[in-house]
Amino acid sequence: MLPCFPRYALVTGANKGIGYGICKKLASSGVVVVLTARNEKRGLDAVESLKELGLSDFVVFHQLDVTDPTSVLSIAEFIKDQFGKLDILVNNAGVPGGIVNGENVLRRVRAVQKVTEALLPLLQLSASPRIVNVSAKLAQLKDSAQKQRHASCGQEATVTEQLK
Ligand SMILES: NC(=O)c1ccc[n+]([C@@H]2O[C@H](COP(=O)([O-])OP(=O)(O)OC[C@H]3O[C@@H](n4cnc5c(N)ncnc54)[C@H](OP(=O)(O)O)[C@@H]3O)[C@@H](O)[C@H]2O)c1
Repeated sequence: MLPCFPRYALVTGANKGIGYGICKKLASSGVVVVLTARNEKRGLDAVESLKELGLSDFVVFHQLDVTDPTSVLSIAEFIKDQFGKLDILVNNAGVPGGIVNGENVLRRVRAVQKVTEALLPLLQLSASPRIVNVSAKLAQLKDSAQKQRHASCGQEATVTEQLK
């Protein structure tokens, strides 16, 4: 049964792996979770497996490809219409480590930025908003080895500049 004042979370890239695990943990703790995935079937299958664990009241699916602006707009509308606010945003998808291609890094960091910007007005309606960004240490530009690789491609400055 839902609590009187439910908390709402959204997890990106949640049809498997760490994102799926975060959804399971949040839903088990009584948080209503929007499990999102870029592929509808994979997302619905993941939701189904959480429902089989008795978490039906706490998990809903919505498609979200973090690199697709239309999809990002659509999830923001969905959260606004269904819940009217967002308490927890977990940016799990889209910033894998070990990428040496600066264009990929920029595209993925930009995606996290766009998702966050779209959902920020709804997070601001929460009494206790949280944003969690999941990434790999290797993806950090301040990681010296990675920094060296980006610098050697002349890409670190571009990434930093374009994110300002
Ligand atoms: N696993 C580790 O040891 C580890 C260590 C440190 C940090 N991390 C970080 O933790 C996060 C999750 O890692 P993981 O191991 O759970 O990865 P994973 O099992 O490969 O899962 C990645 C998830 O992100 C989704 N995804 C990829 N691109 C997307 C997009 N454009 N829009 C929406 N969803 C997208 C994938 O969907 P599809 O199934 O459709 O591909 C999948 O659901 C990553 O940010 C990773 O860098 C992982």
